Amino acid sequence: MKIAGSLCIISGASSGIGKASAFELSKRGARVVLVARREQELGQIAAQIRAAGGQAWAFPTDLSNPQQAGRLGEQVLRELGTPDILIHSAGAGAWRFLDETPIEDLQRLMDTPYFSAAYLTRVFLPAMLQQNRGLILTVCSPASRLVWPGATGYMAARWALNGFTEALRADLYHSKLQVCAFFPGKISDSEYFTRNTCTENRIPRVGRFIPEITSQQAALGIVRALEHDARAKFVPWQLHLFDLLARWFPRIAEHLAWNTGARRKEP
Ligand SMILES: NC(=O)c1ccc[n+]([C@@H]2O[C@H](COP(=O)([O-])OP(=O)(O)OC[C@H]3O[C@@H](n4cnc5c(N)ncnc54)[C@H](OP(=O)(O)O)[C@@H]3O)[C@@H](O)[C@H]2O)c1
Repeated sequence: MKIAGSLCIISGASSGIGKASAFELSKRGARVVLVARREQELGQIAAQIRAAGGQAWAFPTDLSNPQQAGRLGEQVLRELGTPDILIHSAGAGAWRFLDETPIEDLQRLMDTPYFSAAYLTRVFLPAMLQQNRGLILTVCSPASRLVWPGATGYMAARWALNGFTEALRADLYHSKLQVCAFFPGKISDSEYFTRNTCTENRIPRVGRFIPEITSQQAALGIVRALEHDARAKFVPWQLHLFDLLARWFPRIAEHLAWNTGARRKEP
């Protein structure tokens, strides 16, 4: 996929992987549309990109709301045209055992990343199909391929996003639209773990064998995935080894996750 000159929609662009991707893609000549809820952060990022000579627009939107996603789609199509690249990086959600999770949070966990990606893709898909060119990349989580205790709702939502990505690829088989699932390891400088408390200390200790990466390294992985029309990409590569372990030896993976993972507090 050619990045220079492309119109690229990035959800979750106010922080972490989405923000770093916006900078890296604009450096390579993409015109970037930044989407997230926080207006001020998005405005500052767009201004920094423009000051560096890039083209960026901020569209504050709550993507868990289908009406807002619809309005965003209409405005972008009218004012900027059909996107070439969609990057779904919006995501939130604390890690909890099912019985610890407030009932309303079970719904919210699905809102972003799953429903937000589905709504945003749906508004642009007809125009992208007509253009018959483009790439849709979802920032998935290792939690959608490997499982560990104490993050039930989070994992279910990430499996939904991964399933969405695979189903979309099947739907688009006849077209020239590409679909990529991107799997980053733990990000050392993202706000994710400060915004979603009870999460970081639930990463199983076996995860320490996978080096942490920065948001920028994740963004560079996304750039490479786009440039090579990848179907799936893992960054760092050690994560891919764990993924293969879980596929080939599920009982070993389960055992490691249980023995090094979170436990319910004793009553
Ligand atoms: N951090 C990690 O170690 C890691 C590792 C693997 C996978 N991931 C996955 O990668 C994704 C991005 O993670 P990150 O580290 O970049 O997290 P982050 O820094 O917390 O960024 C999440 C982004 O999603 C946006 N967002 C949340 N709810 C939204 C909504 N309803 N509508 C629109 N935007 C919304 C947030 O912006 P606003 O608050 O401004 O809306 C923010 O820009 C997540 O799905 C996460 O599960 C993260």
